[in-house]
Amino acid sequence: MIEPLVDVERDFPIFNRTINGHRLVWLDSAATSQKPEAVVQAVDRFYRESNANVLRSVHTLADEATTAFARAREKVARFIGADQAEEVIFTRGTTESLNLVARSFGDMFVKEGNEIVLSPMEHHSNLIPWQQLARRTGALLKYVDLTEDGRITAEGLQQVIGPQTRVVALSKISNVLGAINPVEIAAEMVHRVGGVLVVDGAQSVPHQPTNVKDLGADFLAFSGHKMCGPTGIGALWGRMEWLEKMEPVIFGGEMISYVDRDTATWAEVPEKFEGGTPNIAGAIGLGAAVDYLEQVGMERISQHSQALGERAFEVLADIPGVSVYGPQRPHGAAVAFNIEGVHPHDVAQVFDAQAVAIRAGHHCAQPLMQWLGVGSTARASVYLYNGDADIDRLREAILETKRFFRR
Ligand SMILES: Cc1ncc(COP(=O)(O)O)c(C=O)c1O
Repeated sequence: MIEPLVDVERDFPIFNRTINGHRLVWLDSAATSQKPEAVVQAVDRFYRESNANVLRSVHTLADEATTAFARAREKVARFIGADQAEEVIFTRGTTESLNLVARSFGDMFVKEGNEIVLSPMEHHSNLIPWQQLARRTGALLKYVDLTEDGRITAEGLQQVIGPQTRVVALSKISNVLGAINPVEIAAEMVHRVGGVLVVDGAQSVPHQPTNVKDLGADFLAFSGHKMCGPTGIGALWGRMEWLEKMEPVIFGGEMISYVDRDTATWAEVPEKFEGGTPNIAGAIGLGAAVDYLEQVGMERISQHSQALGERAFEVLADIPGVSVYGPQRPHGAAVAFNIEGVHPHDVAQVFDAQAVAIRAGHHCAQPLMQWLGVGSTARASVYLYNGDADIDRLREAILETKRFFRR
């Protein structure tokens, strides 16, 4: 029996509500996770007690806000095994982080004829910035082949990483297939040819212990809102030797060292990349989310997410007329499926009547839908507040959907 890892109703206020007369079953954490009371309170407390802009003034509140913002950066850095807090740049989330790398690193170091290696399972956030970079520079996009069940292998990587490879950009865990990708192997291969590894950690940082050194990454992007933190905050971690060389992409207040009428020089990393007033409350909320996840234990969360993801996969695969996508094992927290003859949006709607919240659509991964040969899928995704009881409700919702459409 897999139980939730936390006291769901005590820790997560949203689970005290019912929807359409039923207890809420949240199986849409790959889109966004629910927020623990500790995070809600941290954001609330900042606005009630310490609200001020950071880095600008010397009064007490500015000092408190600046200290809390700096502490949040330190917590995030420790959480991902970074050597220095300064290597963590606060952004709006994974999308902005990946755009920053493609714009800044890409425009400076990727040239015509260079190659950018991606996989067909990438989220549009880890695809379109590279397409755009290729258009700007004349670089070429190459895609690693997936196995039949949707895995990336060392052999597949070997075939596409070559002397011209400047960037390999891969998700550590797929938001659709639940595949857990061997980015560490890609790191070795791309470093041998002098390129960099960019890891999209949107689905892995919330679910696995993360250590940027073990990943072998040069850049890691992730979002706060998928790991119990607020929306509108996330981070880009980068190796300091790259960040120091890279040009900023957002120009304005707080990112400069000196400005005259014609020219400007830049502040140090990370301020250089954080032009404008940052999401201070969001960063503090993300720091509180890190504290919360660490209290539960990332190793436990990892085992839980994988065990429950694999359980969901098995249960769904066992129902006649249901197709499940991606590798059976190991399988992450997101499980994509289709019910024969029923459009995924209709599936999600019938589920909603039973208060089972899932996602339907292309999951911002249209090339993957093309690879799967489907227009869209339904997707159930689990987190630390889910347990077997939720998978039972998922199963019941599928059986009810089949009955409904048979009628
Ligand atoms: C694998 C992956 N990459 C990138 C993103 C984009 O994240 P955000 O919308 O928080 O920027 C997502 C969000 O669903 C994702 O699952």
